[in-house]
Amino acid sequence: MKALLCKEYGPAESLVIEEVPAPVPGKGEVRIGVHACGVNYPDNLIIAGKYQVQPPLPFSPGFELAGEILELGDGVTHLNPGQRVAATSMGGAMAEEICVPATNVVPIPDTMDFTNAAGFIITYGTSYHALRQRAQLKPGEKLLVLGAGGGVGLTAVEIGRLMGAEVIAAASSTAKLELAGSRGAAHLINYTESSLREQVQGLTGGCGVDVIFDPVGGELFKDCLRSVDWGGRILIIGFASGTIPNIPANLPLLRGISIVGVFWGTFAEREPEANRNNMRELLAWFEQGKLKPCISRTYSLEDAPLAMKALLERHATGKLVVTL
Ligand SMILES: NC(=O)c1ccc[n+]([C@@H]2O[C@H](COP(=O)([O-])OP(=O)(O)OC[C@H]3O[C@@H](n4cnc5c(N)ncnc54)[C@H](OP(=O)(O)O)[C@@H]3O)[C@@H](O)[C@H]2O)c1
Repeated sequence: MKALLCKEYGPAESLVIEEVPAPVPGKGEVRIGVHACGVNYPDNLIIAGKYQVQPPLPFSPGFELAGEILELGDGVTHLNPGQRVAATSMGGAMAEEICVPATNVVPIPDTMDFTNAAGFIITYGTSYHALRQRAQLKPGEKLLVLGAGGGVGLTAVEIGRLMGAEVIAAASSTAKLELAGSRGAAHLINYTESSLREQVQGLTGGCGVDVIFDPVGGELFKDCLRSVDWGGRILIIGFASGTIPNIPANLPLLRGISIVGVFWGTFAEREPEANRNNMRELLAWFEQGKLKPCISRTYSLEDAPLAMKALLERHATGKLVVTL
């Protein structure tokens, strides 16, 4: 089978396509014929040798995929060959076939195509877990989303609105903000034009918001600490800016706010039943037409490095997907 391979750590340009043996499912695994693979920010980290868990070289990037089940490993009884599914994996999805634990596999509705399915689990799963379990977002609360035109940010806008929040979308360009507006944001803030903090204070009568969803980190985090109302929560999602901020501990104390960590992958592993319930609700919303995944561009396997580069260079809107 064909696979995009990382043979030595480096940038996306150093990835190569090669023929490799098809994988064989172990106990509790399924073999899937990959039709589409979602591109995620950590794809760039894993090929650079900078991800928290590194597979041995050579390996394929790709943390999420959609396709058809080809074969069941021993002990798998709740899935069937031929079934249409989405799945997550610790890398390996940018290849024609992959074996993943059956527990990582989610059957998809007939109305969901493989391209949408490949970009669904991580973004929507993360945002829903963050807003539901971690922030306990309530109807009527004010939610500020940073990176609101990107992968997880855009889904946080959609889900926040569905949960009844008043959503303020913040991003770096008009195109990204317009996209966030199309998914339900009530207010739009360009944080490259003027201070995030001042714009939030202006929109909230000087009070700040109840919840901040932050996948960006870096300098903007300082503004976040001063843009939250009493009793508010800041969700730490990621550090797309490349900088992990330090937190002056006096500010959460003085403002009575909570800094809340979110790690969807570990949540799914440690609380599988809660994660399955979340996924059921998200897929039901999709089937009811309440969620509209934004796949802004698809790429061939050969062009997958271009997709990874677009994420790194901040050009991507919504989600990028590699189709096979
Ligand atoms: N905690 C979890 O469980 C979890 C799950 C999924 C993803 N994540 C993390 O969340 C972050 C975002 O992931 P994603 O898939 O949404 O990525 P993405 O689609 O690339 O979106 C990230 C956004 O961050 C903003 N950004 C600001 N500075 C940037 C820079 N120097 N380079 C790139 N982007 C920059 C960009 O928006 P503007 O241009 O508008 O600023 C961009 O749209 C990543 O750090 C990822 O690892 C965490």
